[in-house]
Amino acid sequence: MLTLRDVLRRATERLRQSGSPTPRLDAEVLLCHVLGIDRAELYRRLPEQPPGTLERFWELVARRERGEPVAYLTGHREFYGLDFLVTPETLIPRPETEFLVTWAAERLRARHDEPRCVDVGTGCGAIIVSLAVTLGKQHPAVLVGSDRSLAALQVARVNRERLAPGRVHLVCGDLLSWCRGPLDLVVANLPYLRPDQWHPGLAWEPAEALFAPDEGFGWYARLLPQVATLLRSGGGCIVEIDPAQAERALSTARSLFPHGKIAIRRDLAGLSRYLTIELPDPT
Ligand SMILES: C[S@@+](CC[C@H](N)C(=O)[O-])C[C@H]1O[C@@H](n2cnc3c(N)ncnc32)[C@H](O)[C@@H]1O
Repeated sequence: MLTLRDVLRRATERLRQSGSPTPRLDAEVLLCHVLGIDRAELYRRLPEQPPGTLERFWELVARRERGEPVAYLTGHREFYGLDFLVTPETLIPRPETEFLVTWAAERLRARHDEPRCVDVGTGCGAIIVSLAVTLGKQHPAVLVGSDRSLAALQVARVNRERLAPGRVHLVCGDLLSWCRGPLDLVVANLPYLRPDQWHPGLAWEPAEALFAPDEGFGWYARLLPQVATLLRSGGGCIVEIDPAQAERALSTARSLFPHGKIAIRRDLAGLSRYLTIELPDPT
């Protein structure tokens, strides 16, 4: 008699052959999604027979074989320990972006006024909604997520309502052109890839969320001067970059923020991944 363990084994084998780097995990996540259970429950039920033919599961396995990301198949992605909804209109949040939340939260926690923080290019809202959750309801920060994609903002709105209801403002606009400031904190994970960095693993995500003009630095080359006019003394900014842009990011920031503390920080893989800017407090 076929068990759920057998189903998992067969699906894993198919996904391995199709080239998935994580075939067993993919199969488990898809099976859990279809059965509406978590992985602990799946493990408990492995010796049981499957309920029915699992037609929907095999459909999803076939789509995964063709390369579709698991996050788009299930509509969910975990980020900062939270369950975010994602659609093909939003980037799938990456683990390295979690550092932006940690850095921003540390700075906002140190403030005792009502600091204003904008997440530019918020996508599904991963950064700003995580920030709202980690700061908690009582924190006085004004939190804004902005994007020029209305479709992405609709997803961010759903995530806000599910995870931090009423806590985050959402704005549709180009970079910070809509903002009059002043701001205390700007965080951004804007598109930063060059067209030649395309690979098949990126084929399913929106190009507008991945690629930027001017060697991939085009959006930051426009954003950083806006930040320079909007950021208050004592304010901070963190942006996620491509490691190849570190030198350009540093020199751009140094010329725009001559009195700021500017640094390039590394991600867990040791790559130069974040530009941070900290302005001195007013004296
Ligand atoms: C790399 S995705 C990041 C999404 C999200 N912040 C995350 O980390 O998962 C970049 C986002 O920036 C938005 N974007 C691209 N160009 C923009 C611009 N000029 N102004 C505002 N948003 C922009 C895209 O629509 C996309 O949602």
